[in-house]
Amino acid sequence: MVGKKMISSFMIRKYQPGDNEQCRSLWKELTEWHREIYQDSTIGGEHPEDYFDKHLAKVGPDRLWVAVHDSQVVGFVGLIVKGEEAEIEPLIVSKAYRHKSIGKQLTRTVTSEARNLNIRFLNIKPVARNIQAIKFLYKQGFKNLGHIQLFLDFSEHAWKPGPQLFECKFNF
Ligand SMILES: CC(C)(COP(=O)(O)OP(=O)(O)OC[C@H]1O[C@@H](n2cnc3c(N)ncnc32)[C@H](O)[C@@H]1OP(=O)(O)O)[C@@H](O)C(=O)NCCC(=O)NCCS
Repeated sequence: MVGKKMISSFMIRKYQPGDNEQCRSLWKELTEWHREIYQDSTIGGEHPEDYFDKHLAKVGPDRLWVAVHDSQVVGFVGLIVKGEEAEIEPLIVSKAYRHKSIGKQLTRTVTSEARNLNIRFLNIKPVARNIQAIKFLYKQGFKNLGHIQLFLDFSEHAWKPGPQLFECKFNF
């Protein structure tokens, strides 16, 4: 039986200019995922893929890695470095290629880069409703909690009853 982790071949390499369109499309997919979990079609605005170019301009091509399968970019990861801290942003594997260890390899790549740069804290900030990413990250060793962002919502959005922390029941 072919195991779920077996994918014929994929490689991880640094971003190249020819990857632009596919990365833009993956960024759109990431936005669509957030729209889905929050049931909010306005997230990311009309052209969410444009944020990829802004991100590229901010971090530079040296801090972006892509996962390539059959010459197609099926996932990518970025690293934002700020002094002794760094943040993984974004991390995305295309839906059809999930659960094949690609996310794990992208995370390993960016983690080893952070170690090489002598970063002390490597952060990643999934939204609270991104349960699958939180579970995935926990498995990759992200077990320390940093900041928790609390907010008031003055709109009519319906929040779900969510996790409990220090005897406080939160919506998410
Ligand atoms: C999170 C994400 C990058 C994971 O990528 P992936 O390629 O599917 O993950 P992998 O196949 O490498 O999984 C690695 C491990 O995490 C586990 N895992 C993956 N998805 C999981 C899920 N939904 N729930 C629980 N565990 C999960 C796998 O079982 C695997 O564990 P194992 O090695 O013990 O078998 C991918 O689901 C994704 O792109 N999600 C949408 C975008 C997103 O939310 N990005 C993160 C923003 S912070």
